[in-house]
Amino acid sequence: MGLNVPGTEGYEAEAERLLSEYEQFSFEDIHQPVLHFIPEVPNKVLDIGAGTGRDAAYLAGQGRPVIAVEPTNALRRGAALLHPSSLITWVDDSLPELTRVLQLDEQFDLILLSAVWMHLDAGQRLRAMPKIASLLNSAGVLILSLRHGPVPAGRVMFAVSVAETLRLANAEQLKSVYQGHANSRQDLNQRKGVTWTQMGFEKG
Ligand SMILES: C[S@@+](CC[C@H](N)C(=O)[O-])C[C@H]1O[C@@H](n2cnc3c(N)ncnc32)[C@H](O)[C@@H]1O
Repeated sequence: MGLNVPGTEGYEAEAERLLSEYEQFSFEDIHQPVLHFIPEVPNKVLDIGAGTGRDAAYLAGQGRPVIAVEPTNALRRGAALLHPSSLITWVDDSLPELTRVLQLDEQFDLILLSAVWMHLDAGQRLRAMPKIASLLNSAGVLILSLRHGPVPAGRVMFAVSVAETLRLANAEQLKSVYQGHANSRQDLNQRKGVTWTQMGFEKG
């Protein structure tokens, strides 16, 4: 799938480097402010744009079954080798349609969109949010992060805002429970002025 999926530009070619770079920080470091929103185990997780599988592996390590969606072939295959786990099911699928995930006819207790939302343009974000909301069960939590700042060479990203994300989420009866802002953890990106917003939503 990878090569034709909007948003994945640049990832296939850089997969080898990213398979170590994205593993430098732990799940707990990255998601520290929202850890207490994550429902108790056992529960079902959907990690969309799962990359190298860092988060999927952590959550599976806690006994949670994880559907890890990753359209970039080299990342998905590399991640499965890096983090072998019977609890992780890797799915070659992508936003905004999530065709294969929807065919599973499952709902999830935790949906993670870590560093992915900015790869969708405005129309794709509008189409994606109702699908994501429909995949979240009534007690479920959605955690997503927004990247702000200069776009790396070779990648395709769009300006995303807290206001628009709140609007899209609220239209799907997703209630904001957390918003936090932070500088990039990576030195180079920090110097370039890259910042992140982390957001948490529950069905309200
Ligand atoms: C910055 S990486 C984040 C990876 C991982 N979630 C993390 O936090 O380390 C962005 C990921 O989103 C994936 N991606 C890009 N466009 C996508 C789309 N349209 N649907 C799903 N995933 C996409 C890329 O292949 C890549 O793995």
